[in-house]
Amino acid sequence: MGLTVAVTGPTGDIGISAVEALEHSTEVEQIIGMARRPFDPARLGWTKTRYQQGDIRDRAAVDALVADADVVVHLAFIIMGSREESARVNLEGTRNVFEATVAAERPRRLVYTSSVAAYGYHADNPVPLTEDVPPRGSPEHYYSEQKAACEATLAEIVTGSDLETYVLRPCIVAGPRAPALAEAMPWNQLPGPVKKVAQALPLLKPPFPDPGTPLQLVHHDDVAAAIALAATTSAPPGAYNIAGDGVVSMSAVAKQLGARPVRVPRIAASAASQVIARLPFVPSVLEWLHVGRTSVVMDTAKAKSQLGWKPEHSAAETLSALAQSV
Ligand SMILES: NC(=O)c1ccc[n+]([C@@H]2O[C@H](COP(=O)([O-])OP(=O)(O)OC[C@H]3O[C@@H](n4cnc5c(N)ncnc54)[C@H](OP(=O)(O)O)[C@@H]3O)[C@@H](O)[C@H]2O)c1
Repeated sequence: MGLTVAVTGPTGDIGISAVEALEHSTEVEQIIGMARRPFDPARLGWTKTRYQQGDIRDRAAVDALVADADVVVHLAFIIMGSREESARVNLEGTRNVFEATVAAERPRRLVYTSSVAAYGYHADNPVPLTEDVPPRGSPEHYYSEQKAACEATLAEIVTGSDLETYVLRPCIVAGPRAPALAEAMPWNQLPGPVKKVAQALPLLKPPFPDPGTPLQLVHHDDVAAAIALAATTSAPPGAYNIAGDGVVSMSAVAKQLGARPVRVPRIAASAASQVIARLPFVPSVLEWLHVGRTSVVMDTAKAKSQLGWKPEHSAAETLSALAQSV
């Protein structure tokens, strides 16, 4: 009998590729996916997957999802949203998934996609970050704070249980089927005709500040491979950093995604971040500016040596693949 794998958030940027990797795994017999919107797995040619609509905030729905699973893969999350809405889904919903998985009889393994953001954007972070560095989060960025809180919740809930827990910490995920990075660029929010004119005339291209902070990127298929490995491996449970080889500059991101890079001193990004952190009210979307203030480059040696993970796309190749698709 092969494994039954339950997946929350199978329809997201990572979810689609992750389910596809699980569909191709000979060790996986059945996949049960759950997210809120209607979705038909047959539309993507998936044959092992059945889908049920449900919200991770609904404990009964989560209990029903994990009851028949050997492995639970938790991906459902709100990345771009308000602080308040994201907290409801990410903190309450994630707690439900962790508690339901521990409480159910059948699951023996949980795979949770945390993030590089769980480490937080601290000036004293070592470069590169290894998995031994505690995930402290940065309270001024809701996503970072919530990712660190979820890891703490996971540690609290699984203590004393036999559940094998694999925590993956990917950097920014990109590629043709994960366009969020390109979509988040301010100029991509412009109306189509305005964007076209701006793209055609180099001087009209929107400026994009580059404070010199290096960025890691990972291709959606490589993250998917890491998730499928974590679901099936005999490698030890624990945390694994996940990033493509090499780094790209913010200037390269800007150039390839249609903007005009402008080098600014690192101190400018740090100062902007400090000002935003001190304001009494900040729109949640602005909190993402903290990401650029310091390097959060991760060491991926552990995923390679212990999990046997081998990314097929470098950061630069992932960026090119994204740029060609938008
Ligand atoms: N994308 C990245 O760059 C990146 C990097 C590092 C880590 N991660 C982490 O990887 C995980 C997956 O990310 P992603 O990029 O695939 O996210 P995504 O594209 O935003 O997809 C989120 C998925 O979760 C589902 N979902 C959201 N709220 C839900 C709820 N209340 N109940 C049930 N399902 C819900 C969504 O479907 P519905 O809206 O239909 O419910 C969708 O399937 C997240 O934990 C994220 O933090 C992502």
